[in-house]
Amino acid sequence: NEIYLQGYGGTTPAFTTDATRLEESAADLLEPGPFWYVAGAAGSGATARANRAAFDHWRIVPRMLTDATERDLSTTVLGTELPAPVLLAPVGVQSIVHPDGELATARAAAGLRLPMVLSTASSHSIEAVAEASGDGPRWFQLYWPNDPDVCGSILRRAKEAGYTALVVTLDTWTLGWRPADLDGAYLPFLNGDGLAVPFTDPAFRSLLEKTPEEDAPTAILRWISMVTGTDRNWSALPFLREHWDGPILLKGIQHVDDARRAVDAGMDGIIVSNHGGRQVDGAVAALDMLPEIATAVGERATVLFDSGVRTGADVLKALALGARAVLVGRPYVYGLAHGGEDGVRHVLRGLLADFDLTMGLSGHRTVTELDSTVLRRV
Ligand code: FNR
Repeated sequence: NEIYLQGYGGTTPAFTTDATRLEESAADLLEPGPFWYVAGAAGSGATARANRAAFDHWRIVPRMLTDATERDLSTTVLGTELPAPVLLAPVGVQSIVHPDGELATARAAAGLRLPMVLSTASSHSIEAVAEASGDGPRWFQLYWPNDPDVCGSILRRAKEAGYTALVVTLDTWTLGWRPADLDGAYLPFLNGDGLAVPFTDPAFRSLLEKTPEEDAPTAILRWISMVTGTDRNWSALPFLREHWDGPILLKGIQHVDDARRAVDAGMDGIIVSNHGGRQVDGAVAALDMLPEIATAVGERATVLFDSGVRTGADVLKALALGARAVLVGRPYVYGLAHGGEDGVRHVLRGLLADFDLTMGLSGHRTVTELDSTVLRRV
């Protein structure tokens, strides 16, 4: 209603409300390096495309006369109350697309009471982002540092700064082959003075200070090697429990046996995700694995989903297929690029409004009503 009313007054939204056009307009707005850092995917992009295509294989079957005028989309996820089942996926180095980076994202998320999952690779410190998010819900994502002391220190700081749940990303123990990103290598790290290292977190600064500023590429590689390069096995998980007393979720689960194993190991939740198609090109669409995984472990643990969510219908479908909530990645980052905090808010409010309308018009008043019977596979 707000958008229509403003339109009658001659004011249209600052930028598009359409998720596809949003990416196109970000391509016009951003330099190629920053744009491809966000838009890029692994290899040929087959998995990134499959993530989107998978949603098309499911269609909503709307119901009529269900008294859906008033809707309550709220839910609770591992102790965090959400006005709608949407979280902000962890996205690293957000100052690449806007100087306010994660601070702007945190403010927008807090205003909407949606949890922001802060990336280990944040361009602003854990504490500064916590301050920007005020009393808003916040979770922390871990890229598991090779050094246990660094890891323990990061987790301690996150806990002290009020992040409640821990998301441990398993699918990126080393970076995937991302041609578009490689073609623009280091461009995202350019600023007006030449190369600049965008990480302000003390854990990174202390490493980077060992490297002369003029040799920023070496510094960046040094940072990357701090949190990548080491794959682990299931026996490593107790370390996390010892260093984190809140809920823990494993992100990047794609096989039903891994989901079972995570839950058997005492994890509180999993995120069915292929990192937005950025890691294994040719990997199965994340949505295609969701029903089987949710059926296997949904009763025992919290199942979240990301990779390809763009519209309200996508949110509805993921929930109907067993997700408790979804995370959204690239779209809000494009919002950030377009307008900082306001831009993130515009994108998220659009997604929430679209989801709300889609729920109502398909005859649903609460998210608990959603299961696979509301969809038809085509
Ligand atoms: C990511 N993602 C990510 N995940 C993570 O655990 N830590 C991180 O630092 C990042 N960084 C990151 C940067 C950029 C630019 C993108 C696009 C993605 C993955 C992210 O959390 C999420 O899994 C995907 O973005 C979901 O897919 P969509 O919504 O972008 O299709």
